[in-house]
Amino acid sequence: MGSITFNHVYKRYKGEARPAVNDFHLSIEEGEFLVLVGPSGCGKSTTLRMLAGLEEISEGDLYIDDKYVNYLSPKDRDIAMVFQNYALYPNLSVYENIALGLKLRKTAKHDIELRVNRVARILEISHLLGRKPNQLSGGQKQRVALGRAIAREPQVFLMDEPLSNLDAKLRAQTRAEIIKLQSELKRTTVYVTHDQVEAMTMGTRIVVMKDGIIQQVAPPRELYDQPANLFVAGFIGSPQMNFIQGSVTREDGRFYFVNKRIKLPVPEHHYPGFNRDRNGISFIMGVRPEHALLKADTGREEEEGWVRCEVEMTEITGADSYVYVRLGEQTVIVRTDPDKLHRKDDKLLVSFAMNKVHFFEEQSGDSVSLKGDAQ
Ligand SMILES: Nc1ncnc2c1ncn2[C@@H]1O[C@H](COP(=O)(O)OP(=O)(O)O)[C@@H](O)[C@H]1O
Ligand SMILES: [Mg+2]
Repeated sequence: MGSITFNHVYKRYKGEARPAVNDFHLSIEEGEFLVLVGPSGCGKSTTLRMLAGLEEISEGDLYIDDKYVNYLSPKDRDIAMVFQNYALYPNLSVYENIALGLKLRKTAKHDIELRVNRVARILEISHLLGRKPNQLSGGQKQRVALGRAIAREPQVFLMDEPLSNLDAKLRAQTRAEIIKLQSELKRTTVYVTHDQVEAMTMGTRIVVMKDGIIQQVAPPRELYDQPANLFVAGFIGSPQMNFIQGSVTREDGRFYFVNKRIKLPVPEHHYPGFNRDRNGISFIMGVRPEHALLKADTGREEEEGWVRCEVEMTEITGADSYVYVRLGEQTVIVRTDPDKLHRKDDKLLVSFAMNKVHFFEEQSGDSVSLKGDAQ
């Protein structure tokens, strides 16, 4: 129970030139924790609201458990939604807020009592049941909103940025609680956020969206290790992946990534992506900060694979330190040992773990590495 299928779904708002959701095509498995992530305005909420039945579908089909639901009203969908702004009824007590959905569904009074008390215990809000929403903190309100969703025991939970109004500490805490709850209840959950850290820590699978279009669907690790395009590569990970412009040349059957400052051997597993006619095409080499390395510049001839650079600034986060180095016109961020201090204008050498780098076609933004694999 609780599987969901989007079959080429579109949402066109009246008077808008481009669709808010453009050919959303995806199956979600029963019990899955799926996260929709992307910048503000990319169509996450619209997608969720179509699933909840709060927004009409312009084109395409939506199925829940193989049942066609395009025209099914929200109350008949066996779905509970948690919003960013809690949406609690101010005149009702916490108990009544949680019980309301059950009452409307004509659940027996005794049953309601059992369920509300159980949910309150799980969420540790038993002592708040008699209060009104205005007597609660933000975190407590969000728990009540979660409680209301859970009490109904729906097949599917939908959550739209439920943690955005909480401060950092409470956000991390509630995030952990939602993960735990979901794994205990094993109900299909679709969770919307613009925060890539939230997406990476919560989802078993993540959908990255941009301009209404799905960019990539993958588990967190795969999204990080094999981004399908420049957008995903830049969106996932903080500080973000370094992008270095250049082109690819072939010498004696070997490929090199080159620009004015560098000439780096391309690892062989990328060759299939470059074997087609790539003359004059610009590429972007993507390097995560942890895959770049710094060492002192001894002033001697540049060694192969090492490139001269200058320190711009250093950012120390506690566990890590990030050194921003200047490489021609380009700034590259390198994760380093916080014990090694670098000062502005220090001259250093930088190298890249070439077996970990990514290559993208500059114009389309598509990963060359993945295309190569598919051939
Ligand atoms: N009711 C509406 N009428 C017209 N345009 C809308 C409406 N709701 C959202 N949009 C537009 O649709 C796009 C996607 O919005 P939304 O789904 O809210 O994005 P997100 O939740 O990812 O921030 C945006 O460009 C937004 O301005
Ligand atoms: Mg939204």
